[in-house]
Amino acid sequence: MSSASEPVSSATRFVRACLRQPVDRTPVWFLRQAGRYMREYMEVRKHHSLLEICKNPDLAAEVTITAAEKLDVDAAIIFADLLLPLECMGLDFEFQAGEGPVIHKPIRSAADVDALITTRASQLEYVAEAIRKVVAHFHDQLGIIGFCGAPFTLASYMIEGGGSRNYIETKQLMYRRPDAWRRLLDKLVVVLREFAAQQVAAGADVIQIFDSWAGALAIPDYRDFVLDATRTLVREVQGLGVPVIYFGVDTASLLPAMRETGADVLGLDWRTPLDQAWRGLDYACALQGNLDPITLFAEPELIRNRVHSILDQAAGRPGHIFNLGHGIVPGTPVENVQAVVKFVREYAPSEARHG
Ligand code: CP3
Repeated sequence: MSSASEPVSSATRFVRACLRQPVDRTPVWFLRQAGRYMREYMEVRKHHSLLEICKNPDLAAEVTITAAEKLDVDAAIIFADLLLPLECMGLDFEFQAGEGPVIHKPIRSAADVDALITTRASQLEYVAEAIRKVVAHFHDQLGIIGFCGAPFTLASYMIEGGGSRNYIETKQLMYRRPDAWRRLLDKLVVVLREFAAQQVAAGADVIQIFDSWAGALAIPDYRDFVLDATRTLVREVQGLGVPVIYFGVDTASLLPAMRETGADVLGLDWRTPLDQAWRGLDYACALQGNLDPITLFAEPELIRNRVHSILDQAAGRPGHIFNLGHGIVPGTPVENVQAVVKFVREYAPSEARHG
């Protein structure tokens, strides 16, 4: 615990928690904290497409800053999208209303993998430029989170051409063309490392790696086909001098294997109780999570109970970052998101039970 006379900035609190160092209170931020549930974002969206916002550093910074200030969170995640690196690798895509992303010519063969370009990551500098603007606004006060996709989740979009239920094309390539699969993941790691390096150079304090769909994998498949490339990416990003948060959904059984990537923090979905997950990991990393985002549609009293229950499970152990188990969905009442921040703050943290 730092002493009461020594004010701690949100940035310090957030980074210290990522490194499992003691903090004065649990830091809090939200997955998809800037998004369609927020009036200010929808106002910007009226005039600009999602990709226009991502590629315009002034707009991306504005959306990032507005959300972080409105919610009074400890960290701001840069407004961008997981799929941006696909474009510089030679795959065009668009966001179709109501359908999510559509990749025009998905990868289906070894030749398609070989055609991917890995030397144009500099085209992604607009994200770093937006980070510079956010840093200039918050200085060292707020934690600044950069992010990228994980090799598996990005490969699945490249191969399926969009979201998927069963990942048949992805797993087929993985099982039947393991050499092409490995080359694909290796190429992604080259680009993602460079993308992360740009964000860190611009001032990102932490990088979150989203493996949103890793939960589709059985443990042996994750170990045989995904773990090595992911571990390489995690290590390379840590080598840039920042902690890494590695996040996935539906990952209860995968957590020990995910831990082997060496990530500083694992992002936990809401299906696994936090205390059980942490014990299962021998407390060997920090945890971020894990309120069900749909709880935000409940009455404040129930929300408070759930928030405090998660904090009870963390039990003051260094290395917990409060968040949702997945992103805020459209239609979520903003005041309930703000209430969560209040409930985290009012939780009596003083006697850490693990000190
Ligand atoms: O505040 C923040 O969290 C930062 C912004 C952010 C966006 N995408 C903007 C966005 C972040 C962190 C992402 C990451 C992302 N993008 C992920 C991983 C996170 C997760 O949810 O697991 C994924 C899988 C994507 C790909 C993607 N982008 C999909 C599948 C969709 C469509 C989803 C839908 O609900 O329509 C998007 C679109 C998208 N990216 C939106 C936002 C705010 C919503 C669409 C819009 O504004 O038009």
